[in-house]
Formats: sequence, structure tokens, C-alpha cells
Amino acid sequence: MPPIATATNHYLTHHGSTAVVSATVHGFTVGYWWAAGAFWAGAVICGALIRGGTRLHHEAGQPEPVDQVVSGPIRHLVAGEPSTPRPSTPARPPRPTDPYTTREHVMTTISIIGSGNMATAIGTRAAKHGHTIELMSRNTAKAQALADQIGNGATVGTFGARPAGDIVIVAVLYTGAVEVVAHYGDALAGKILIDITNPFNADVSGLVTTAGNSVSQQIAAAAPEGAHVVKAFNSIFRGVLAEDTPLDVFFAGDSAEAKARVAAFLESLDMRALDAGGLEMAYVLEWAGILLVGLARNGAGFDIALGAEVL
Ligand SMILES: NC(=O)c1ccc[n+]([C@@H]2O[C@H](COP(=O)([O-])OP(=O)(O)OC[C@H]3O[C@@H](n4cnc5c(N)ncnc54)[C@H](OP(=O)(O)O)[C@@H]3O)[C@@H](O)[C@H]2O)c1
Repeated sequence: MPPIATATNHYLTHHGSTAVVSATVHGFTVGYWWAAGAFWAGAVICGALIRGGTRLHHEAGQPEPVDQVVSGPIRHLVAGEPSTPRPSTPARPPRPTDPYTTREHVMTTISIIGSGNMATAIGTRAAKHGHTIELMSRNTAKAQALADQIGNGATVGTFGARPAGDIVIVAVLYTGAVEVVAHYGDALAGKILIDITNPFNADVSGLVTTAGNSVSQQIAAAAPEGAHVVKAFNSIFRGVLAEDTPLDVFFAGDSAEAKARVAAFLESLDMRALDAGGLEMAYVLEWAGILLVGLARNGAGFDIALGAEVL
């Protein structure tokens, strides 16, 4: 179901433009400030896009009809944040054309290393949208079972051999990601590697990575000459991805050409690809994963997705 209301709570000023980073929630409105480290030029803020149904009222724990949530003042989940009524919002002008949404979608072979939850969610969604999936896993039987489940000509490749696809999704746990890329070695030369990992600490209160040393940057250091790393998908829950509804997806990487290819792929999956910048921004996207889990655990539930609105 498409969003039926947008609550604009706070603003992020970035490179002279004003944007709102929002969370898409099946239910009630959420306002949230998030700062991702001292180097991070501004505060990243969440509003909410409400997508119908009812949701527990955060304070009372009672179901609340969506129309009440939409028309009433925004209920802030951040402690101490005053809830102020907003004037009605004028109709928005159409979004300016952006290069990512106007490019042609090319159906292609996508290689996925891993055969777990995210390999399933991404592979299934990509196959539904016409791509052919190659699965490469250390567990060949599991990869074959997943290929059979995904269908649409999905194949199983040899773990460690050169992938068939130009885009290779590294869908393994962060603890194994660098090791896996090193294991493939030159077989990944010239490939676009999509890093989807979330290097969360044990209680998901922070990351085990540091600024300048995100998993993506570690993968880039281990990857062969000519391979390009792009961070994407990490701030989307697999269940939401599997719903196959339109979504925003943040991505970051150093190669403009690789990013254009990844953006075209993402958009072929009915996702709006939002470029966060160079690979140094992968660390920020890893924190966006923490933000997503924080929102989910503190009232919004796991059926949510982050997004951005350009106003
Ligand atoms: N689940 C989500 O909603 C979600 C959302 C965004 C991002 N992510 C990220 O996506 C990645 C995959 O998550 P998931 O939920 O798909 O996990 P998962 O279901 O546990 O699957 C992990 C996959 O990685 C493989 N693997 C792990 N360590 C490996 C190693 N050292 N060498 C080779 N293969 C290895 C596993 O192989 P075996 O089956 O042989 O163990 C399995 O195929 C993680 O980094 C996670 O942070 C997950």
C-alpha cells in the first residue's frame, strides 16, 4: 500500500539542499534525530510515511486508527521532544527528474555469494523483476535448494570461481565478508561488489567498525584490481525487501560507473536508488542499519523502511 501521509519532523541540510530522511512505517508517525559521528556534517532526521492499517499507540500501547494518527499532531518518540501541530502542507510539485530514475533497465545475471536470508530476499526480488540469479555458496546443496526456490533460470556457481554476473552481491555475515572476497581473489577482477553487511556489535547498540574502516572499505582493500565496491541494501530488513513494494535504498561507492550500474539494477527492482556519496559514506550507512533496528525495537516494529524526501 502506498504512503498515505508524510510527517516532516526535522531537516537535514546537506550540500545546500534540504532533505528529510524518513522512515516508512505501516502505522503511526515517528520523529527521530540521529547523528552519525563527529565527522558527519549534519543531523540525520526521521519523519514518517504512514502506509495504512493500525498500529499500537506508542505511549498507551493501544491500537490507533490511522486517520487519527494522520490528522493529529505528530507524536514524537524522542524523549522530551515537544509535539507541535503543523499547518497543512501544500501539494508538492513533482520531483525533479533524476538521472537514476530515467535510465533504461537492463535485465542481467546477478551473482550472489551466500545462500541465507538476504540472498533469498534479494535473489527472489531480482528474479521477479526479470534478472537471472547465480548463487555461489560454501554450502552447494543449500545454494541449489535456493536456486530451485527462486527459479527463473537461477543457477549455482562454484564457490570461489569467477562469477557469471558483472554485479556480485556479497550476502554473507560481516565476519566472513573480507575472507570470502580474499578467497575469490582475482576471480572478482573487474566486478562490481555490493556489500550488504551490517557489522553490528553483540547487542546491536553500535558497530564494530570505525570511520574510515567500514566493512566496504575493508572489502575494497581485499578486492583485486579493477573491482569496485558499492554499499547497498544494508539498511533494509529482509522481510520488507521480500514484500516487493517500492522502496528507497541508500548506496555509496567511489566509482561513478559502478554506482550508475548498481542504481540501474536497484531501480529495476522498483527501488529508488539514493546516492549517499563515496565509499567513506559506507560507515554512515552501517550506522543507518543501527538506526533502523533502533526504530524497530522502540515502537515502530520491523515492518519499516528508511527513505528520503526531497522537498
Ligand atoms: N537479515 C536482514 O534483514 C539483513 C538486512 C540487511 C543486511 N543484512 C546483512 O546481510 C548479510 C547476510 O545476512 P543474512 O540475514 O542473509 O544472514 P544468514 O541468513 O545467516 O546468511 C549468511 C550467509 O553467509 C554465509 N557465510 C557466513 N560466513 C561465511 C564465511 N566465512 N564464508 C562463506 N560464507 C559465509 C552463510 O553460509 P552457510 O549457510 O554455509 O552458513 C550464509 O549463506 C549480513 O552481513 C547482514 O548483516 C541482513
